Amino acid sequence: MKKIRFTAIIISIVMLTSLFAGCAERNRATQNAEENLTKDTKVLVVYFSWSGHLDSMAHWIADETGGDIIRVLAKDEYPESYNDTANRAKKEKDDGVRPAINVSLTTEQMEKYDTVFIGFPVWWYDLPMTMWTFLESVDLSGKTVIPFFSHEGSSDGASSLSTIKTLAKGADVKTGDAISIRGSKVADSEKDVRDWVKGLGYSK
Ligand SMILES: Cc1cc2nc3c(=O)[nH]c(=O)nc-3n(C[C@H](O)[C@H](O)[C@H](O)COP(=O)(O)O)c2cc1C
Repeated sequence: MKKIRFTAIIISIVMLTSLFAGCAERNRATQNAEENLTKDTKVLVVYFSWSGHLDSMAHWIADETGGDIIRVLAKDEYPESYNDTANRAKKEKDDGVRPAINVSLTTEQMEKYDTVFIGFPVWWYDLPMTMWTFLESVDLSGKTVIPFFSHEGSSDGASSLSTIKTLAKGADVKTGDAISIRGSKVADSEKDVRDWVKGLGYSK
């Protein structure tokens, strides 16, 4: 009996330790988002991802282009539960909330880029509000913006592409070049994503 109790305590400690380690890792990512923008490149890949599809797509694009990559996170992270996230995202959209995010890029930091790939999952037929926050915070004038996104039915991005056009003031937003991949197909789409980058002439 004692042994079982001891084993249970050890398992709990290990689980708690890894939980806190995970939190620390996420917080580091939140605080130091701009530290990785160090490559000699004119391409920046910026994305938001909740369940990981855009994370995969963004990394393939960054690898294929040789570009810098940065992940937008809500400072108040979205819950792990789908329903809770869906409810919060709906309320944020209905109320026009701009959630605080981890990324803050100055005009000087943006100077080296001439093309910005913007990635997002379609949320409630539009951009997630974190990306509204990002697009309103950054100076994209004079740059080429290329959207990439994932969905579970809104294959044309619903309102998201016209939202990017409105928010990315002064940018040349290539909505016609955007790539759209159903969430359930993302895992098998690395070649499609890389071929898309090549076709646009951005392969390194
Ligand atoms: C809060 C929320 C809202 C969503 N709204 C839509 C939607 O309006 N249209 C759609 O096609 N898919 C919608 N989806 C599905 C996501 O766009 C899709 O699962 C995407 O692949 C997720 O990308 P991620 O793994 O990078 O988060 C929604 C998902 C969530 C979590």
